[in-house]
Amino acid sequence: MKITSVILAAGKGTRMRSSLPKVLHPILGQPMLWYAIETSRAVTQATPVVVVGYDAEQVREVVGDDVRYVLQEEQLGTGHAVQRADSVLRGKADYILVTYGDMPLVSEDTLKSLVNAQQAHDGPISVLTAVADDPRGFGRIVRDADGDVLAIVEEALATPEQLAIRELNTGVFCFTADWLWDALDRIELSPKGEYYLTDLVEIAISEGRSVQAIQVEDPSEMIGINTRVHLAEATAMMQQRINQKWMLDGVTIQDPQTVYIEPGVTIGRDTVLAPNTHLRGETHIGEACIVGPNTIIQDSQMGNRCEVLNSVVEGAVIEDDVDIGPFGHLRKGAHLASGVHMGNFGEVKNSYLGPGTKMGHFSYLGDATIGSDVNIGAGTITCNYDGVQKHPTEIGDEVFIGSDTMLVAPLKLGHGARTGAGAVVTKDVKDKTLVVGMPARAIRKLT
Ligand code: UD1
Ligand code: CA
Repeated sequence: MKITSVILAAGKGTRMRSSLPKVLHPILGQPMLWYAIETSRAVTQATPVVVVGYDAEQVREVVGDDVRYVLQEEQLGTGHAVQRADSVLRGKADYILVTYGDMPLVSEDTLKSLVNAQQAHDGPISVLTAVADDPRGFGRIVRDADGDVLAIVEEALATPEQLAIRELNTGVFCFTADWLWDALDRIELSPKGEYYLTDLVEIAISEGRSVQAIQVEDPSEMIGINTRVHLAEATAMMQQRINQKWMLDGVTIQDPQTVYIEPGVTIGRDTVLAPNTHLRGETHIGEACIVGPNTIIQDSQMGNRCEVLNSVVEGAVIEDDVDIGPFGHLRKGAHLASGVHMGNFGEVKNSYLGPGTKMGHFSYLGDATIGSDVNIGAGTITCNYDGVQKHPTEIGDEVFIGSDTMLVAPLKLGHGARTGAGAVVTKDVKDKTLVVGMPARAIRKLT
Protein backbone atom coordinates (compact mmCIF):
# COMPACT_ATOMS: atom_id res chain seq x y z
CA MET A 1 0.00 0.00 0.00
CA LYS A 2 1.60 3.20 -1.10
CA ILE A 3 0.93 6.36 0.87
CA THR A 4 2.07 9.80 -0.25
CA SER A 5 1.65 13.08 1.56
CA VAL A 6 0.52 16.39 0.12
CA ILE A 7 1.70 19.33 2.19
CA LEU A 8 -0.16 22.61 1.70
CA ALA A 9 2.20 25.57 1.78
CA ALA A 10 0.90 28.03 -0.78
CA GLY A 11 -0.40 30.70 1.59
CA LYS A 12 1.35 34.01 2.17
CA GLY A 13 0.91 34.17 5.91
CA THR A 14 -0.16 37.81 5.98
CA ARG A 15 -0.32 37.92 9.77
CA MET A 16 3.39 37.18 10.08
CA ARG A 17 3.92 40.73 8.71
CA SER A 18 7.05 39.58 6.94
CA SER A 19 8.75 39.65 3.58
CA LEU A 20 9.67 36.00 4.15
CA PRO A 21 6.99 33.43 3.23
CA LYS A 22 5.44 32.09 6.44
CA VAL A 23 6.56 28.48 5.95
CA LEU A 24 10.22 29.58 5.73
CA HIS A 25 10.32 31.19 9.17
CA PRO A 26 12.77 29.08 11.16
CA ILE A 27 12.15 27.01 14.25
CA LEU A 28 15.38 25.79 15.85
CA GLY A 29 17.41 26.37 12.71
CA GLN A 30 15.02 24.78 10.19
CA PRO A 31 12.23 26.41 8.20
CA MET A 32 8.90 25.41 9.77
CA LEU A 33 7.97 23.61 6.54
CA TRP A 34 10.94 21.26 7.04
CA TYR A 35 9.27 19.68 10.08
CA ALA A 36 6.07 18.90 8.17
CA ILE A 37 8.15 17.42 5.34
CA GLU A 38 10.34 15.22 7.54
CA THR A 39 7.45 13.96 9.69
CA SER A 40 5.31 13.01 6.73
CA ARG A 41 8.27 11.49 4.90
CA ALA A 42 8.95 9.27 7.91
CA VAL A 43 5.32 8.16 8.06
CA THR A 44 4.75 7.54 4.36
CA GLN A 45 8.26 6.41 3.36
CA ALA A 46 7.65 8.38 0.16
CA THR A 47 8.71 11.72 -1.27
CA PRO A 48 6.16 14.34 -0.16
CA VAL A 49 4.45 16.64 -2.65
CA VAL A 50 4.53 20.26 -1.49
CA VAL A 51 1.94 22.70 -2.84
CA VAL A 52 3.63 26.08 -3.21
CA GLY A 53 2.20 29.40 -4.34
CA TYR A 54 3.21 32.59 -2.60
CA ASP A 55 6.92 33.22 -3.36
CA ALA A 56 7.21 29.65 -4.65
CA GLU A 57 10.71 30.26 -6.01
CA GLN A 58 12.13 31.19 -2.63
CA VAL A 59 10.43 28.27 -0.92
CA ARG A 60 11.95 25.85 -3.45
CA GLU A 61 15.35 27.40 -3.12
CA VAL A 62 15.42 27.16 0.67
CA VAL A 63 13.75 23.75 1.03
CA GLY A 64 15.64 22.11 -1.85
CA ASP A 65 15.05 19.23 -4.22
CA ASP A 66 14.32 16.44 -1.75
CA VAL A 67 10.58 16.89 -2.29
CA ARG A 68 8.29 17.31 -5.31
CA TYR A 69 6.62 20.66 -5.86
CA VAL A 70 3.35 21.58 -7.48
CA LEU A 71 2.34 25.15 -8.06
CA GLN A 72 -0.96 26.67 -6.98
CA GLU A 73 -0.82 30.03 -8.69
CA GLU A 74 -3.96 31.43 -7.10
CA GLN A 75 -4.98 30.43 -3.58
CA LEU A 76 -8.50 29.27 -4.31
CA GLY A 77 -8.84 27.16 -1.17
CA THR A 78 -7.59 23.98 0.47
CA GLY A 79 -9.57 21.74 -1.90
CA HIS A 80 -8.12 23.50 -4.91
CA ALA A 81 -4.63 23.21 -3.38
CA VAL A 82 -4.88 19.42 -2.97
CA GLN A 83 -6.23 19.12 -6.50
CA ARG A 84 -2.95 20.60 -7.81
CA ALA A 85 -1.28 17.32 -6.82
CA ASP A 86 -3.63 15.24 -9.01
CA SER A 87 -1.41 15.42 -12.09
CA VAL A 88 1.65 14.06 -10.28
CA LEU A 89 -0.03 11.55 -7.94
CA ARG A 90 -3.06 10.06 -9.70
CA GLY A 91 -2.50 6.33 -10.05
CA LYS A 92 0.77 6.53 -8.09
CA ALA A 93 -0.49 6.20 -4.50
CA ASP A 94 -3.24 4.26 -2.73
CA TYR A 95 -3.64 6.77 0.11
CA ILE A 96 -3.09 10.50 0.30
CA LEU A 97 -2.15 12.12 3.60
CA VAL A 98 -2.87 15.87 3.65
CA THR A 99 -0.89 18.02 6.09
CA TYR A 100 0.10 21.70 6.38
CA GLY A 101 3.38 23.56 6.13
CA ASP A 102 2.48 25.73 9.10
CA MET A 103 1.84 22.87 11.58
CA PRO A 104 5.36 21.80 12.59
CA LEU A 105 4.44 20.03 15.84
CA VAL A 106 2.30 17.23 14.43
CA SER A 107 4.06 14.04 15.50
CA GLU A 108 4.91 10.93 13.56
CA ASP A 109 2.80 8.81 15.94
CA THR A 110 -0.25 10.97 15.35
CA LEU A 111 0.04 10.78 11.57
CA LYS A 112 0.67 7.04 11.76
CA SER A 113 -2.47 6.45 13.79
CA LEU A 114 -4.50 8.43 11.24
CA VAL A 115 -3.06 6.48 8.31
CA ASN A 116 -3.57 3.14 10.08
CA ALA A 117 -7.16 4.08 10.86
CA GLN A 118 -7.86 4.95 7.23
CA GLN A 119 -6.27 1.72 6.00
CA ALA A 120 -8.69 -0.21 8.23
CA HIS A 121 -11.70 1.93 7.21
CA ASP A 122 -14.35 1.19 4.53
CA GLY A 123 -15.05 4.83 3.74
CA PRO A 124 -12.82 7.19 1.75
CA ILE A 125 -11.91 9.70 4.49
CA SER A 126 -10.34 9.77 7.95
CA VAL A 127 -9.99 13.20 9.50
CA LEU A 128 -7.86 14.13 12.49
CA THR A 129 -9.87 16.10 15.04
CA ALA A 130 -9.07 17.85 18.30
CA VAL A 131 -11.33 18.60 21.22
CA ALA A 132 -10.49 22.04 22.54
CA ASP A 133 -12.02 24.72 24.74
CA ASP A 134 -11.18 27.55 22.38
CA PRO A 135 -12.58 26.63 18.96
CA ARG A 136 -12.04 30.01 17.30
CA GLY A 137 -11.23 29.88 13.61
CA PHE A 138 -11.55 26.13 13.22
CA GLY A 139 -14.04 24.11 11.21
CA ARG A 140 -16.50 22.22 13.44
CA ILE A 141 -17.09 18.45 13.22
CA VAL A 142 -20.83 17.84 12.91
CA ARG A 143 -22.05 14.39 13.99
CA ASP A 144 -25.53 12.82 13.99
CA ALA A 145 -27.36 11.35 16.98
CA ASP A 146 -25.41 8.10 16.60
CA GLY A 147 -22.13 9.96 16.64
CA ASP A 148 -21.38 9.41 12.96
CA VAL A 149 -19.62 12.26 11.19
CA LEU A 150 -21.91 14.17 8.84
CA ALA A 151 -20.00 17.28 7.84
CA ILE A 152 -17.29 19.81 8.59
CA VAL A 153 -18.69 23.30 8.80
CA GLU A 154 -16.43 26.29 8.46
CA GLU A 155 -16.82 28.81 11.27
CA ALA A 156 -18.06 31.58 8.99
CA LEU A 157 -20.89 29.37 7.75
CA ALA A 158 -21.80 27.70 11.04
CA THR A 159 -25.14 28.01 12.84
CA PRO A 160 -25.09 29.11 16.51
CA GLU A 161 -25.57 25.46 17.54
CA GLN A 162 -22.67 24.35 15.37
CA LEU A 163 -20.49 27.12 16.77
CA ALA A 164 -20.88 25.53 20.20
CA ILE A 165 -19.26 22.27 18.99
CA ARG A 166 -15.90 21.64 20.64
CA GLU A 167 -14.63 18.96 18.27
CA LEU A 168 -12.56 20.70 15.62
CA ASN A 169 -11.09 19.95 12.23
CA THR A 170 -7.28 19.99 12.56
CA GLY A 171 -7.10 20.07 8.76
CA VAL A 172 -5.11 16.81 8.57
CA PHE A 173 -6.77 14.09 6.47
CA CYS A 174 -6.04 10.68 5.07
CA PHE A 175 -7.95 9.83 1.88
CA THR A 176 -8.34 6.81 -0.33
CA ALA A 177 -6.63 8.14 -3.43
CA ASP A 178 -8.91 6.79 -6.17
CA TRP A 179 -11.94 8.35 -4.54
CA LEU A 180 -10.16 11.61 -3.73
CA TRP A 181 -9.08 12.70 -7.20
CA ASP A 182 -12.58 12.34 -8.67
CA ALA A 183 -14.34 13.81 -5.63
CA LEU A 184 -12.16 16.95 -5.71
CA ASP A 185 -13.79 17.85 -9.04
CA ARG A 186 -17.19 17.81 -7.36
CA ILE A 187 -16.41 20.48 -4.74
CA GLU A 188 -18.46 23.60 -5.38
CA LEU A 189 -17.29 27.14 -4.90
CA SER A 190 -18.04 28.40 -1.38
CA PRO A 191 -19.74 31.76 -0.75
CA LYS A 192 -16.22 33.08 0.04
CA GLY A 193 -14.99 32.09 -3.40
CA GLU A 194 -12.88 29.14 -2.29
CA TYR A 195 -12.97 25.39 -2.86
CA TYR A 196 -13.03 23.88 0.62
CA LEU A 197 -11.33 20.52 1.13
CA THR A 198 -13.69 20.04 4.06
CA ASP A 199 -16.67 19.83 1.65
CA LEU A 200 -15.43 16.34 0.73
CA VAL A 201 -16.99 15.07 3.96
CA GLU A 202 -20.52 15.96 2.85
CA ILE A 203 -19.79 14.69 -0.65
CA ALA A 204 -18.81 11.27 0.78
CA ILE A 205 -21.84 11.15 3.09
CA SER A 206 -24.19 12.04 0.20
CA GLU A 207 -22.76 9.04 -1.67
CA GLY A 208 -23.58 6.81 1.28
CA ARG A 209 -19.90 6.41 2.24
CA SER A 210 -18.68 6.83 5.81
CA VAL A 211 -16.23 9.34 7.23
CA GLN A 212 -14.18 8.54 10.28
CA ALA A 213 -12.90 11.08 12.83
CA ILE A 214 -9.75 10.23 14.78
CA GLN A 215 -9.21 12.39 17.84
CA VAL A 216 -5.66 13.51 18.49
CA GLU A 217 -4.32 12.67 21.96
CA ASP A 218 -2.42 15.90 22.50
CA PRO A 219 -4.20 18.90 20.92
CA SER A 220 -1.10 21.08 21.36
CA GLU A 221 0.47 19.20 18.42
CA MET A 222 -2.10 20.87 16.23
CA ILE A 223 -0.93 24.44 16.73
CA GLY A 224 -0.95 26.17 13.36
CA ILE A 225 1.37 29.14 13.09
CA ASN A 226 -0.28 32.35 11.93
CA THR A 227 1.62 35.03 13.88
CA ARG A 228 5.06 35.47 15.42
CA VAL A 229 3.46 34.86 18.81
CA HIS A 230 2.51 31.37 17.60
CA LEU A 231 6.03 31.00 16.18
CA ALA A 232 7.55 31.59 19.61
CA GLU A 233 5.09 29.16 21.23
CA ALA A 234 5.88 26.48 18.69
CA THR A 235 9.63 27.05 19.11
CA ALA A 236 9.30 26.62 22.88
CA MET A 237 7.35 23.39 22.41
CA MET A 238 9.82 22.00 19.89
CA GLN A 239 12.71 22.96 22.18
CA GLN A 240 11.04 21.17 25.07
CA ARG A 241 10.32 18.09 22.98
CA ILE A 242 13.93 17.79 21.77
CA ASN A 243 15.38 18.47 25.23
CA GLN A 244 13.15 15.81 26.79
CA LYS A 245 14.29 13.27 24.22
CA TRP A 246 17.95 13.87 25.09
CA MET A 247 17.33 13.85 28.84
CA LEU A 248 15.58 10.48 28.52
CA ASP A 249 18.58 9.29 26.48
CA GLY A 250 20.97 10.11 29.34
CA VAL A 251 22.01 13.74 28.84
CA THR A 252 21.83 16.14 31.80
CA ILE A 253 20.30 19.50 30.92
CA GLN A 254 20.59 21.77 33.92
CA ASP A 255 18.13 24.44 32.80
CA PRO A 256 16.14 23.16 29.82
CA GLN A 257 14.45 26.48 29.13
CA THR A 258 17.76 28.06 28.20
CA VAL A 259 19.20 25.18 26.19
CA TYR A 260 18.46 25.07 22.45
CA ILE A 261 19.26 21.87 20.56
CA GLU A 262 18.56 21.78 16.84
CA PRO A 263 17.14 18.64 15.26
CA GLY A 264 20.39 17.64 13.46
CA VAL A 265 22.34 17.32 16.73
CA THR A 266 23.37 14.11 18.50
CA ILE A 267 24.70 13.88 22.08
CA GLY A 268 26.35 11.04 24.00
CA ARG A 269 25.39 9.77 27.44
CA ASP A 270 26.43 11.49 30.65
CA THR A 271 27.16 14.72 28.87
CA VAL A 272 26.09 17.79 30.85
CA LEU A 273 24.64 20.84 29.12
CA ALA A 274 24.89 23.88 31.35
CA PRO A 275 22.54 26.89 31.04
CA ASN A 276 22.44 28.97 27.90
CA THR A 277 23.94 26.36 25.62
CA HIS A 278 23.06 26.31 21.91
CA LEU A 279 23.84 23.22 19.82
CA ARG A 280 23.24 23.97 16.15
CA GLY A 281 23.32 22.44 12.71
CA GLU A 282 24.98 19.07 12.18
CA THR A 283 26.72 18.81 15.51
CA HIS A 284 27.79 15.71 17.38
CA ILE A 285 28.80 15.82 21.04
CA GLY A 286 30.37 12.70 22.57
CA GLU A 287 29.91 11.15 26.00
CA ALA A 288 30.68 12.68 29.39
CA CYS A 289 31.37 16.17 28.06
CA ILE A 290 30.53 19.37 29.90
CA VAL A 291 29.26 22.09 27.56
CA GLY A 292 28.44 25.60 28.72
CA PRO A 293 27.31 27.74 30.37
CA ASN A 294 27.03 30.30 27.60
CA THR A 295 28.29 28.28 24.69
CA ILE A 296 27.35 28.01 21.01
CA ILE A 297 28.43 24.95 19.04
CA GLN A 298 27.58 24.86 15.34
CA ASP A 299 28.26 22.15 12.73
CA SER A 300 31.03 20.59 14.83
CA GLN A 301 32.15 17.15 15.98
CA MET A 302 33.30 16.61 19.55
CA GLY A 303 34.73 13.47 21.14
CA ASN A 304 34.32 12.24 24.72
CA ARG A 305 35.17 13.93 28.03
CA CYS A 306 35.61 17.41 26.56
CA GLU A 307 34.85 20.63 28.41
CA VAL A 308 33.79 23.82 26.68
CA LEU A 309 33.08 26.88 28.80
CA ASN A 310 31.73 30.21 27.55
CA SER A 311 32.88 29.64 24.00
CA VAL A 312 31.82 29.72 20.34
CA VAL A 313 32.69 26.71 18.18
CA GLU A 314 31.87 26.66 14.45
CA GLY A 315 32.78 24.03 11.88
CA ALA A 316 35.38 22.40 14.13
CA VAL A 317 36.58 18.90 14.97
CA ILE A 318 37.47 18.30 18.60
CA GLU A 319 38.87 14.94 19.67
CA ASP A 320 38.70 13.40 23.18
CA ASP A 321 39.71 15.07 26.45
CA VAL A 322 39.98 18.59 25.03
CA ASP A 323 39.21 21.64 27.14
CA ILE A 324 38.30 25.02 25.72
CA GLY A 325 37.62 28.39 27.26
CA PRO A 326 36.44 30.47 28.85
CA PHE A 327 36.07 32.71 25.80
CA GLY A 328 37.49 30.47 23.11
CA HIS A 329 36.54 30.80 19.46
CA LEU A 330 37.00 27.88 17.10
CA ARG A 331 36.25 28.70 13.48
CA LYS A 332 35.85 26.65 10.32
CA GLY A 333 38.51 23.98 9.87
CA ALA A 334 39.81 24.06 13.44
CA HIS A 335 40.88 20.57 14.50
CA LEU A 336 42.02 19.99 18.07
CA ALA A 337 43.52 16.53 18.64
CA SER A 338 43.06 14.65 21.90
CA GLY A 339 44.19 16.29 25.09
CA VAL A 340 44.54 19.79 23.63
CA HIS A 341 44.14 22.59 26.14
CA MET A 342 42.89 25.91 24.80
CA GLY A 343 42.57 28.49 27.53
CA ASN A 344 40.95 31.90 27.61
CA PHE A 345 40.71 34.26 24.63
CA GLY A 346 42.05 31.88 22.00
CA GLU A 347 41.01 31.83 18.35
CA VAL A 348 41.78 28.96 15.99
CA LYS A 349 40.84 28.89 12.30
CA ASN A 350 41.64 26.25 9.68
CA SER A 351 44.39 24.77 11.82
CA TYR A 352 45.38 21.42 13.31
CA LEU A 353 46.69 21.27 16.86
CA GLY A 354 48.36 17.93 17.62
CA PRO A 355 47.77 15.78 20.71
CA GLY A 356 48.65 17.36 24.04
CA THR A 357 49.35 20.81 22.61
CA LYS A 358 48.63 23.71 24.94
CA MET A 359 47.51 27.19 24.05
CA GLY A 360 46.74 28.80 27.35
CA HIS A 361 46.09 32.48 26.83
CA PHE A 362 44.94 34.94 24.12
CA SER A 363 46.45 33.60 20.91
CA TYR A 364 45.42 33.43 17.26
CA LEU A 365 46.27 30.45 15.09
CA GLY A 366 45.17 30.54 11.45
CA ASP A 367 46.13 28.21 8.57
CA ALA A 368 48.58 26.41 10.84
CA THR A 369 49.60 22.78 11.30
CA ILE A 370 50.94 22.19 14.76
CA GLY A 371 52.52 19.01 16.08
CA SER A 372 52.08 17.24 19.39
CA ASP A 373 52.97 18.58 22.85
CA VAL A 374 53.65 22.07 21.57
CA ASN A 375 53.45 24.98 24.01
CA ILE A 376 51.95 28.12 22.52
CA GLY A 377 52.93 31.04 24.78
CA ALA A 378 50.51 33.79 25.74
CA GLY A 379 49.79 36.27 22.97
CA THR A 380 51.19 34.18 20.11
CA ILE A 381 49.90 35.14 16.67
CA THR A 382 50.22 33.53 13.28
CA CYS A 383 50.52 36.49 10.93
CA ASN A 384 48.89 34.46 8.15
CA TYR A 385 47.63 37.30 5.97
CA ASP A 386 49.86 39.72 4.11
CA GLY A 387 46.98 41.85 2.91
CA VAL A 388 46.59 39.90 -0.31
CA GLN A 389 47.00 36.20 0.44
CA LYS A 390 46.78 33.73 3.30
CA HIS A 391 49.94 31.73 4.08
CA PRO A 392 50.53 28.54 6.09
CA THR A 393 52.52 27.99 9.26
CA GLU A 394 53.99 24.61 10.23
CA ILE A 395 55.19 23.89 13.72
CA GLY A 396 56.90 20.59 14.61
CA ASP A 397 56.41 18.40 17.69
CA GLU A 398 57.51 19.65 21.11
CA VAL A 399 58.13 23.20 19.95
CA PHE A 400 58.05 25.92 22.61
CA ILE A 401 56.70 29.27 21.40
CA GLY A 402 57.61 32.07 23.79
CA SER A 403 55.04 34.64 24.88
CA ASP A 404 54.05 37.30 22.36
CA THR A 405 55.73 35.62 19.40
CA MET A 406 54.67 36.79 15.92
CA LEU A 407 54.92 33.97 13.40
CA VAL A 408 55.08 35.66 10.00
CA ALA A 409 53.80 33.12 7.45
CA PRO A 410 54.72 31.28 5.31
CA LEU A 411 56.86 29.73 7.99
CA LYS A 412 58.18 26.40 9.31
CA LEU A 413 59.52 25.69 12.77
CA GLY A 414 61.36 22.38 13.13
CA HIS A 415 60.95 19.77 15.83
CA GLY A 416 61.91 21.00 19.31
CA ALA A 417 62.54 24.61 18.22
CA ARG A 418 62.02 27.51 20.68
CA THR A 419 61.26 31.20 20.30
CA GLY A 420 62.07 33.86 22.86
CA ALA A 421 59.43 36.19 24.25
CA GLY A 422 58.47 38.90 21.76
CA ALA A 423 60.23 37.22 18.80
CA VAL A 424 59.07 38.23 15.32
CA VAL A 425 59.85 35.12 13.31
CA THR A 426 60.16 35.83 9.59
CA LYS A 427 62.35 32.90 8.50
CA ASP A 428 62.10 29.14 8.92
CA VAL A 429 63.61 27.79 12.13
CA LYS A 430 65.60 24.55 12.12
CA ASP A 431 65.03 21.64 14.52
CA LYS A 432 66.11 22.25 18.10
CA THR A 433 67.07 25.87 17.49
CA LEU A 434 66.33 28.88 19.70
CA VAL A 435 65.49 32.15 17.93
CA VAL A 436 65.00 35.58 19.55
CA GLY A 437 64.46 39.24 18.66
CA MET A 438 63.00 41.29 15.84
CA PRO A 439 63.40 39.90 13.21
CA ALA A 440 64.30 36.75 15.08
CA ARG A 441 67.78 35.26 14.66
CA ALA A 442 69.28 32.04 15.92
CA ILE A 443 71.39 32.42 18.99
CA ARG A 444 72.12 28.84 19.90
CA LYS A 445 71.60 25.22 19.01
CA LEU A 446 69.63 23.38 21.70
CA THR A 447 70.42 19.95 23.05
C1 UD1 B 1 -8.66 25.23 7.45
C2 UD1 B 1 -9.90 24.31 7.41
C3 UD1 B 1 -10.58 24.34 8.77
C4 UD1 B 1 -9.58 23.88 9.81
C5 UD1 B 1 -8.32 24.75 9.78
C6 UD1 B 1 -7.27 24.19 10.68
C7 UD1 B 1 -10.73 24.36 5.14
C8 UD1 B 1 -11.73 24.93 4.21
N1 UD1 B 1 -10.79 24.79 6.39
O1 UD1 B 1 -9.16 26.55 7.67
O2 UD1 B 1 -11.71 23.48 8.78
O3 UD1 B 1 -10.18 23.91 11.10
O4 UD1 B 1 -7.76 24.79 8.45
O5 UD1 B 1 -6.17 25.06 10.73
O6 UD1 B 1 -9.93 23.54 4.73
N2 UD1 B 1 -3.60 26.79 1.67
C9 UD1 B 1 -3.08 26.62 0.40
N3 UD1 B 1 -3.81 27.03 -0.68
C10 UD1 B 1 -5.04 27.59 -0.54
C11 UD1 B 1 -5.56 27.76 0.75
C12 UD1 B 1 -4.84 27.34 1.84
O7 UD1 B 1 -1.97 26.12 0.24
O8 UD1 B 1 -5.63 27.94 -1.57
C13 UD1 B 1 -2.82 26.37 2.81
C14 UD1 B 1 -2.41 27.56 3.66
O9 UD1 B 1 -1.14 28.02 3.30
C15 UD1 B 1 -2.42 26.98 5.05
C16 UD1 B 1 -3.44 25.85 5.00
O10 UD1 B 1 -3.61 25.55 3.62
O11 UD1 B 1 -1.19 26.40 5.41
C17 UD1 B 1 -4.77 26.19 5.64
O12 UD1 B 1 -5.34 27.28 4.98
P1 UD1 B 1 -6.16 28.40 5.73
O13 UD1 B 1 -6.62 29.36 4.75
O14 UD1 B 1 -5.36 28.89 6.89
O15 UD1 B 1 -7.39 27.56 6.26
P2 UD1 B 1 -8.26 27.89 7.51
O16 UD1 B 1 -9.20 28.98 7.14
O17 UD1 B 1 -7.43 28.05 8.70
CA1 CA C 1 -5.16 28.50 9.28
